Amino acid sequence: MKNLSGQIAVITGASSGIGKAIALSLAGEGLTLCLTGRSTTSLETVAALARETSPKVLSYPVDLTDQAEFNRFIEQLKADVSHVNLFIHCAGVLTVGRIKAIDMEVLDLQYRTNVRAAYALTKEFLPLIKHGAGQIVMMNSSIWQHARAELSQYASMKYALKAFTDSLRDEVNQDGIRVLSMFLGRTATPMLAELHQQQGTQYIPEDLIQPSDVAETLLHLLMLPRSAEVTDIHIRPMKKS
Ligand SMILES: NC(=O)c1ccc[n+]([C@@H]2O[C@H](COP(=O)([O-])OP(=O)(O)OC[C@H]3O[C@@H](n4cnc5c(N)ncnc54)[C@H](OP(=O)(O)O)[C@@H]3O)[C@@H](O)[C@H]2O)c1
Repeated sequence: MKNLSGQIAVITGASSGIGKAIALSLAGEGLTLCLTGRSTTSLETVAALARETSPKVLSYPVDLTDQAEFNRFIEQLKADVSHVNLFIHCAGVLTVGRIKAIDMEVLDLQYRTNVRAAYALTKEFLPLIKHGAGQIVMMNSSIWQHARAELSQYASMKYALKAFTDSLRDEVNQDGIRVLSMFLGRTATPMLAELHQQQGTQYIPEDLIQPSDVAETLLHLLMLPRSAEVTDIHIRPMKKS
């Protein structure tokens, strides 16, 4: 297994849930971390925890759907790092609603957060992603295989993300950059707690995948020898609903 110590990782959505768990897991492996999220307070809490083990942690509060904030963020990040080894996209939002009821503005926001931000960041940072040692990870969802009522917008975004990720892999594999889609079932994060609240169903976090399960799986995949690439990984809760 390859040691990741000394590498530089950028993680979006690091202020909460899955991104937070991944940030803390990579901090423990000695990586330099560049963390983003919207909430300054939550981001700083994660950054402070990560600093207990990581040699260097930079945090960037940014709303990725706001073009001016986005531009300032990429300018700052490019000034702060010479290259990136790992770019892990966890920022995402989920809104449920039937097609006839849900507003188009909600679709636009989900597009800007769940697809456009990952695309735009990839476009900006591909030249800095280290050839021969770069890895890009997209947090996708099991909804990709199971689109259903009330999830048309979110499912559409995750389908688009999967298509983008596959095209990206085809373009960058020749530069020695690995590209991974993680397709997650229900994971115990604030996003899921809110979903249960919206749907009026009981939230039992211990029945779900834990964010640390995702982080542990990802760490293993990131450390694989460079002779192999895992392109897609599906994780489901052990307890089926
Ligand atoms: N939980 C699940 O069951 C599940 C299953 C499959 C896939 N996923 C995917 O996993 C990823 C992480 O989700 P999670 O469950 O960890 O959710 P979460 O706890 O709600 O975290 C979402 C993260 O995205 C950030 N974010 C949202 N909108 C943003 C914006 N406009 N600009 C910048 N950052 C933004 C949030 O920042 P703030 O909190 O600071 O606002 C937060 O850090 C998402 O892509 C989600 O679709 C989750």
